[in-house]
Amino acid sequence: MSDQKAIQERTLAELGATAPDAISARFAELRSGFDHRVDLLSAGDLAGWTALRNAWLGRASGVITAIGDNWLKPATPEQKRIVGKALNELKAHVERTLEELRALAEAAGDAGTTSAGGVDLSLPGVQRPLGTRHPLRQTIEELERIFLSIGFSVVEGPEIETPYYNFEALNIPEHHPARDTMDTFYLSLPSRAAATASEALPPRAATAGSNKQMASPELLLRTHTSPMQIHTMERQKPPVRIIVPGRCYRRDNPDSTHSFAFHQIEGLAVDTDITFCEFKGTCEYFVREFLGPKTRTRLRPSYFPFTEPSAEVDASCFACDGRGCRICKHAGWIELFGAGMVDPAVYGYVNYDAKRLSGFAFGMGVERMAMMRYGINDIQLFYQNDVRFLRQFE
Ligand code: DAH
Repeated sequence: MSDQKAIQERTLAELGATAPDAISARFAELRSGFDHRVDLLSAGDLAGWTALRNAWLGRASGVITAIGDNWLKPATPEQKRIVGKALNELKAHVERTLEELRALAEAAGDAGTTSAGGVDLSLPGVQRPLGTRHPLRQTIEELERIFLSIGFSVVEGPEIETPYYNFEALNIPEHHPARDTMDTFYLSLPSRAAATASEALPPRAATAGSNKQMASPELLLRTHTSPMQIHTMERQKPPVRIIVPGRCYRRDNPDSTHSFAFHQIEGLAVDTDITFCEFKGTCEYFVREFLGPKTRTRLRPSYFPFTEPSAEVDASCFACDGRGCRICKHAGWIELFGAGMVDPAVYGYVNYDAKRLSGFAFGMGVERMAMMRYGINDIQLFYQNDVRFLRQFE
């Protein structure tokens, strides 16, 4: 029906608007229609803006074109002056308004203040503070870097062990006093799990003549990362050059140097021609890399059931350079870790030829290395997750 046509689709004559006032009124009607659409547009609504621009300025069917075609063209010469002028004004108003809206949206977009569907995208997002690597993790990575650079590879092993791997195969028999310092947590698992764990033990018949003993089926939390020496040599023919970072457990009461859970890095190198010289050289290289090129190394006789001879590896005090200070308790030296040449008895547990092979092993406490390096005097700080402590290692 013709009276439902938009006014710009009809001629002024059809609209009965031939007098100047009537013409102006029609233009005012169009203009307020446009302004109303603008009011409805929300800032940053790009799709709405585009639709509005096309509806009004579109070449083929925009309102401005329609007015030109339907109002201006058929008008009498006197009307043309009025219509032409009003049309130009309307067009300028539409163009200016649309341009202002676009500039506003753009500025808002630049400042990150575009909103869509009532959501204010300009609001700051949820800030998720980036964490950092824990100082123990950083220390482990540094230790790994040093040993990787001289041909060691990194392996990891289970935290739940059998007494066989944790003690016996490391030449620590049941009533050996070395077990006293390594009391730990024992697990009573359902019998199926215990059976599976004991199945994982190596078949005893295949190793007749070795030092292997009956292992008890009970499970425990490993007290050191040394069991991975045995696992690795069982799985792999020599040469072996591995380090084993990982968590260990002991039945220790917490104090400033003890924790029931802590970390170690075990090391093992076995080959046909490894001498004490290579062992000492590796220790010295490590100490210089970790504590600085001027640091001196000292090997002090010690005892471990799985190494012979055994040594404590000491470094000249990094704080006083060996002169003696509070940090080294006036000794000039700081104890770093235990180590030694692999006791040939251990090779017996893994079917390695003790006559042909030799090697060295070491085991260092990650917490101890980190405490020394960063001057931390309480091991508990590592486990409390107090960000005031952790932030210092960013
Ligand atoms: N496993 C020993 C401990 O936890 C540390 C250790 C000492 C490991 C000497 C070794 C070693 O491999 O040769 O106390």
